[in-house]
Amino acid sequence: MTQDELKQAVARAAIEYVVDGEIIGVGTGSTANFFIDELGKIKHRIKGAVASSEATAVRLKSHGIQVFDLNDVESMPVYIDGADEIDPKGAMIKGGGAALTREKIVASVADKFICIADGSKLVDVLGKFPLPVEVIPMAHAVVTRKLQALGGQPTLRMKDGNPLVTDNGGYILDVAGLQITAPQELEAKINNIVGVVTVGLFAQRGADVGLLGMADGVKKFVY
Ligand code: A5P
Repeated sequence: MTQDELKQAVARAAIEYVVDGEIIGVGTGSTANFFIDELGKIKHRIKGAVASSEATAVRLKSHGIQVFDLNDVESMPVYIDGADEIDPKGAMIKGGGAALTREKIVASVADKFICIADGSKLVDVLGKFPLPVEVIPMAHAVVTRKLQALGGQPTLRMKDGNPLVTDNGGYILDVAGLQITAPQELEAKINNIVGVVTVGLFAQRGADVGLLGMADGVKKFVY
């Protein structure tokens, strides 16, 4: 199976977690996009969705799914999203699509985080994928120095010759060279650096269920 077929398979499998009559939290990225397309087929069963990015909101609306403002939603049973890496305990690196902050906010409101990914995202130790960190633009240089002091090699993410600007007006530092053996601790440490909006480590609130697409089918992990 191709990587896209694996993503499609996990997107389909995730439909089982959609709760009828409820609002669902929806992530960002290519795997989440496959999920949105599946969700479109059963849209009459749900009340609507909360989007973790402008791009996801556009795709949800293109399927006729009502998009709610998170401020109008007190709870939701599930949040479904992809990951750049996931470890055997359900801790993840996210933010390859620059939506980490909104993803973490929406996920924090959900009872369950369902991670959907192709099997290549499963790793023993997080950190091969450069860790995205959203920062306030005026702080990118100082935060870079602090991340270097933690042993990382941060690079400012660029787009068309300029720093990439997130949906929140922030910049992204991609931090290479980290072997993340204690993800919860590193999440707290980086979130504590002044000027950081959010680190793309999802360990304190990791996945509850992982649906990972392998050559021999979709494997379910409960964390
Ligand atoms: C978006 O900011 C990310 O957190 C995505 O969830 C992550 O990058 C996975 O994306 P793909 O599904 O495109 O691999």
